[in-house]
Amino acid sequence: MNQEEIIQKTQEFVQQKFSGEGTGHDWYHINRVRKLALEIAQAERADLFIVELGALLHDIADHKFHGGDLAVGPKKAQEWLESVGADQETIEKVCHIVANVSFKGAGSKNAMESLEGKVVQDADRLDASGAIGIARAFTYGGTKGRLIYQPGVEPGYHKNFQEHQKEAASTLNHFYEKLLHIKNLMNTATGLTLAEERHRYVEDFLSRFLAEWEGEN
Ligand code: ADP
Ligand code: NI
Repeated sequence: MNQEEIIQKTQEFVQQKFSGEGTGHDWYHINRVRKLALEIAQAERADLFIVELGALLHDIADHKFHGGDLAVGPKKAQEWLESVGADQETIEKVCHIVANVSFKGAGSKNAMESLEGKVVQDADRLDASGAIGIARAFTYGGTKGRLIYQPGVEPGYHKNFQEHQKEAASTLNHFYEKLLHIKNLMNTATGLTLAEERHRYVEDFLSRFLAEWEGEN
């Protein structure tokens, strides 16, 4: 298969796998990340084929839905790419992205090394900010039965992956744990520009939310 066919087949595979997924990791998330990643990749002169494949496969087996097993994603991506006849170099580059893309708490070290991976990671993180990011956070919190906000509980963030896994705080706490950090986590200059506007939107939302909560608005 040529590159175009591999992308097309991968899109069909992922679209079918994620249709109806209601936790915020749906096909539309994947497709938004793909479009954002391609936009960033063009500006940053990254390899568009690797970026597009990495974006399409980045959530193929999220650790949160596989009992914390971080090895499932790259393995699934590898099996898929072998089945469509991708070459070894492509497989390695894409698996590096899938293995390292995920957010594991604001204090965890980022092991993403390739430019293509940094681009996909920026795109994935951008989709957790702005209006879409706010909607996704409350959807995720809802599936976990979380309160939207718990006054009196100090906003905190988790020092490591274990603590990040244990968290049971309100969805608003997640804003302090993740959404407000996204701007500072950007790998690329293009990602940072996009993140700044989304960051302001999240800040405005938070101040308005808290004002309404207190009856000030
Ligand atoms: P990524 O796909 O970037 O690795 P996650 O899988 O951690 O990110 O999260 C997917 C989406 O769910 C994001 O929009 C994120 O903000 C949201 N989310 C993750 N954990 C929580 C949480 N504890 N509370 C609310 N939303 C969450
Ligand atoms: Ni994602």
